[in-house]
Amino acid sequence: MRLLCLLVVLCTLCGVAFSNDTISGVNLGGWLLIEEWMFSFGMFDRVDELYDTPQGVVMPPLLPDGFGQNWFGEGDLVYKLVQQFGEDSAIEVIEAHRDEYITDDDLMLMRLAGIEAVRVPLGWWALVDECDAEEAVVITDPAHADKQFVTVPRPYLLEQISRIVDNGLEVLLDIHAFPGGSTEGSYNGIFPADPVFFTSDDLMAQGFDIVTNLCDLYLDLPASTRAGVTGFTLMNEPAQGLGWQSDFMQAWLRSATDIYRQKIANFVSDVPKLYTNLIGNSITNEAMLIWMDDTFTEEELADWAVLDVHSYYAWDWPASGCYDGSCAYECSDSATAEGLDHIHDIVWDTAEYTHTYFVANGTVPMVACTEYSLATLNLSNTACRSKPILDEMYYNQLLGFEEQGLYASFFWTWRMPYGGTHEYAWSLKYYLGLGH
Ligand SMILES: *[C@@H]1O[C@H](CO)[C@@H](O)[C@H](O)[C@H]1NC(C)=O
Ligand SMILES: *[C@@H]1O[C@H](CO)[C@@H](O)[C@H](O)[C@H]1NC(C)=O
Ligand SMILES: *[C@@H]1O[C@H](CO)[C@@H](O)[C@H](O)[C@H]1NC(C)=O
Repeated sequence: MRLLCLLVVLCTLCGVAFSNDTISGVNLGGWLLIEEWMFSFGMFDRVDELYDTPQGVVMPPLLPDGFGQNWFGEGDLVYKLVQQFGEDSAIEVIEAHRDEYITDDDLMLMRLAGIEAVRVPLGWWALVDECDAEEAVVITDPAHADKQFVTVPRPYLLEQISRIVDNGLEVLLDIHAFPGGSTEGSYNGIFPADPVFFTSDDLMAQGFDIVTNLCDLYLDLPASTRAGVTGFTLMNEPAQGLGWQSDFMQAWLRSATDIYRQKIANFVSDVPKLYTNLIGNSITNEAMLIWMDDTFTEEELADWAVLDVHSYYAWDWPASGCYDGSCAYECSDSATAEGLDHIHDIVWDTAEYTHTYFVANGTVPMVACTEYSLATLNLSNTACRSKPILDEMYYNQLLGFEEQGLYASFFWTWRMPYGGTHEYAWSLKYYLGLGH
């Protein structure tokens, strides 16, 4: 406990995370890929949404009070905007959001806070051939006619990557959503429709084109910007919640990795890291290691192949905290020193082992965690919000990542100004006292 306090004080003073080896990063969630809960404006408090409850409410700056109907995810949002206002206005709403959500001031604040790298979640609508045009267009999901997206034009994406690098940050480009849906959850783009990517050869083939386009985008960057691209994730949380699609997922991911090898890894001298993200509810921990071992050579594992496993207390009951007696500890326990010690022990017990299984095995030298947060529960009104508990969550996790020797960690996510009570534990900017 005393060591923790010392660290808290030191870190608060210097404003830096930890000056150790683990790369300190943050996600730019909700920017080029919109998730409804981040725009629920205090009307809803669930992080993971229900199939019958659209939680998206507002879309600033053009629709700061919403537009009279709530929405499920980006595909549902754009479809509803097109229905109500037409394509041109839908494009204006989405582009106005993209233009203002992550400013140069944000990038400067990240650097002051000791952040070294940002992870940029991208939807497939940023990586299709339609993106070659200067102007954005509305495209429709190939498997769900009522899910639409506004393309991210390639010139715009190249400019944004350069802007981040010019501000002194490295970039990890992460493909977070695929046509048809490659995972459960509203970040799949097509929620609440069925994710069918891994059930269709056509969609999986389109997925290879999208990965190819991402590699080409990288190769098109000016050399100085390219040097700032620290890594890639070819698919975020593949087949999450879709265990029965796991074999197709593993085969697809292996072929996608081959594209990366043939387009980038075999040709550039300083190979950006390939963060392969795998998730427990579609593949076992043991199978993750076997997949890594089968897919990569020892040289690749030593040089550029990283295993990336997310870590969230919000869905981990034994480590959870809340106000209503349904969790492992009560938020109000923090009122006494003994209570706070007890909370510390619960948080630390998890923090020191989150990735030990993977690290201790030794097969994969580089293990990372590209998503973690301070949330103690998946319902933000009931989750703990006070500074002492959020500090326990923050410093214990960072210390745990260091002690386990992780290659990198990325907070989920940088800001959530329209997220109501989600903001406390899911916005690093807000937690650090740097505004909304
Ligand atoms: C999220 O919250 C709901 C409501 O309390 C709960 O039923 C559900 O089990 C939670 N999800 C997980 C994975 O903990
Ligand atoms: C690492 O994991 C693989 C897959 O489970 C296993 O075969 C191997 O024995 C493990 N190695 C060590 C040192 O535990
Ligand atoms: C840095 O991390 C390593 C483990 O990766 C640990 O052994 C070492 O003590 C840490 N150093 C500091 C200054 O925290």
